[in-house]
Amino acid sequence: MAQTLESILNYPSMDVDTANEALDRSVGVIRENLAEFTDRFQSSNSFGGFYVPTENVEWTTGFWTGEIWLAYEHTGEACFRKAAEIQVESFLERIEKKIDVNHHDMGFLFSLSCVAAYKLTGNAHAKKAALLAADHLAERYREKGQFLQAWGNVGEAKEYRLIIDCLLNLPLLYWASEVTGQARYAQMAENHIRTAMKCILRPDDSTYHTHFIDMETGEPTYGVTHQGNRNGSAWARGQAWGIYGIALSYRYLKEPSYIDLFCRVTDYFIRHLPDDLVPYWDFDFDTGSTEPRDSSASAIAVCGILEMAKYLEKERAEYYRQAAYRMLRALMDRCSNGDIKKSNGLLLHGTYARDSKENTCTNRGVDECNTWGDYFYMEALTRMVTDWKLYW
Ligand code: GLY
Repeated sequence: MAQTLESILNYPSMDVDTANEALDRSVGVIRENLAEFTDRFQSSNSFGGFYVPTENVEWTTGFWTGEIWLAYEHTGEACFRKAAEIQVESFLERIEKKIDVNHHDMGFLFSLSCVAAYKLTGNAHAKKAALLAADHLAERYREKGQFLQAWGNVGEAKEYRLIIDCLLNLPLLYWASEVTGQARYAQMAENHIRTAMKCILRPDDSTYHTHFIDMETGEPTYGVTHQGNRNGSAWARGQAWGIYGIALSYRYLKEPSYIDLFCRVTDYFIRHLPDDLVPYWDFDFDTGSTEPRDSSASAIAVCGILEMAKYLEKERAEYYRQAAYRMLRALMDRCSNGDIKKSNGLLLHGTYARDSKENTCTNRGVDECNTWGDYFYMEALTRMVTDWKLYW
């Protein structure tokens, strides 16, 4: 059954004190994780509830460093700053040596680790790494079609497409423009979101995960899913990347048309939440389904809503805030972990990838913690308790 604001309001809300306590519990888990995850990183998802140490590879390692920075901001404890600074050096090495960076996810990796370090402490290595990452991302910009190519070698015909997740990589480009005074980074980001919104948002306000672009004409051709249930369905995390991605571009560009886009993708997300407000991994599934949840989708959406609410007119902002408070409360009630013996993650019941007939995934991290779910849960709690200055 479709959710309405009235039905969502039946759920208990989140308040500052409760969020503070939840944040304390999360910081406690992070503190206990430092010994194992300072020289190495958390795996993208947990295995039986526990992350294992990895090298600085894949698109996900920045989330763990971001959590450590949030823990540092919450407590001011030197142990967090020291650990995050060790990881910043690893990110500088990664971008200088181009280790596992043949993809667009420079924002996920470098905004939360290095831009964060630079903003919080003025770390010069962090600034250098983040600017190198922005340059590297800019190389993926395709003039024909005006977008950032997500995967594969740039210019390759079979990979000539964008994906909705990339909206979270754009803030690295906006930041690079601010720091260098060069408008070209922000211009690429603005062109990318224009192209993405032209093809990814469907008339019913759901979104495609990925969309191909014709290499010759630059025109969008067709959308397909990679991680959703069907090409035509709404992958819950993809819809959430849309919510937060639009909010972040609005923050930098203040383009009025983004307000309507934000409301459309967010209303779709809220309307399709199940009764307990923790989304299934795809909005094909609703209350009573036995399919797994993706708690991370909700954590991402909450952050996006709380960001965009800063810029909306009062009544609309209040509507979305009230929904976000309930969604966050549901995450805390049903998915949060504060006991390192049970799990070394913060947010249970995420799904990295779920196999279906139409998608191109195998099951991975199903009903597990994932490191971005943990990060966005912490960011959402931080947003509740303070006027947080973004790393994005
Ligand atoms: N950006 C990849 C994912 O959301 O799984």
